[in-house]
Amino acid sequence: MLLDVKNLAVSYGKNSVPTIAEVSFDLNDGEILAIVGESGSGKTTVIRAILNVLPGGGRVSDGSIIFEGKNLLELDAGGWRNLRGKNISMIFQDSGNMMNPVHTIGKQFVEYIQVHSDLDKKSAREMAIEKLELMNLPNPENILNSYTFELSGGMRQRVGIAMAITFQPKLLLADEPTSALDVTTQAQIVGELMFITRGSGAAMIIVTHNIGVASYLADNLMVMSRGRVVEYGKTNDVINHPQAEYTKTLLASVPEIGGRRYV
Ligand SMILES: Nc1ncnc2c1ncn2[C@@H]1O[C@H](COP(=O)(O)OP(=O)(O)OP(=O)(O)O)[C@@H](O)[C@H]1O
Ligand SMILES: [Mg+2]
Repeated sequence: MLLDVKNLAVSYGKNSVPTIAEVSFDLNDGEILAIVGESGSGKTTVIRAILNVLPGGGRVSDGSIIFEGKNLLELDAGGWRNLRGKNISMIFQDSGNMMNPVHTIGKQFVEYIQVHSDLDKKSAREMAIEKLELMNLPNPENILNSYTFELSGGMRQRVGIAMAITFQPKLLLADEPTSALDVTTQAQIVGELMFITRGSGAAMIIVTHNIGVASYLADNLMVMSRGRVVEYGKTNDVINHPQAEYTKTLLASVPEIGGRRYV
């Protein structure tokens, strides 16, 4: 088993009532888990807790997060440096926002690679180009010489994904990776994420508001509401035989086309 999250609880600030609690799930190598649920249900909190990047004042107050047999809650700074980027990496909602607008994409990508490896500049640049090509980005040389504002949202997001997969991490965490994009680009990027994960054997946890995206991509589906897991199981089972009232409501809101539910 790659990741085993048990009974996870997170509290913010001095609040003694945890914001999320009793969150348990697991992930095998190469599996994709989608997390869906209403705004504020705690999806981002789960992802951030796994990567130990909770915002200030947020802390894990209960449970365990075991990655490849190691409890991540016991890692020190050095341990995290070895893990982030190489074993677990994150794809953000808008990768453009995560990058510095005053430096070229190439400068940042090459630096990122050099921080995590022993490669010289030239080899790091070659590696960056190779990863951009993997994400179907045309003229990778041009992209490396560009600034984030010169690229479309879809291209920026492809660059972000290219960076996240550079070191072939075993686990990708993606928090609404396509929600800032138009529908056509969303579909393309979801397809590419599927291709990348299935091709490299990476496991992924993807947070999405789009249950259609979840059902297309994910082996397992977790539905959250108010900081709790209300349903968790094989995607097909959850979609075809939802048990929780909340999941039924969520599915009922998905449009039907020609009498077939469009998920
Ligand atoms: N920085 C913070 N400080 C205090 N409380 C926070 C903070 N971030 C999140 N919370 C609390 O955690 C709850 C869950 O937030 P979270 O961002 O995990 O939800 P979400 O499911 O990702 O929502 P969305 O779909 O809107 O992104 C929020 O309702 C809020 O009460
Ligand atoms: Mg969120």
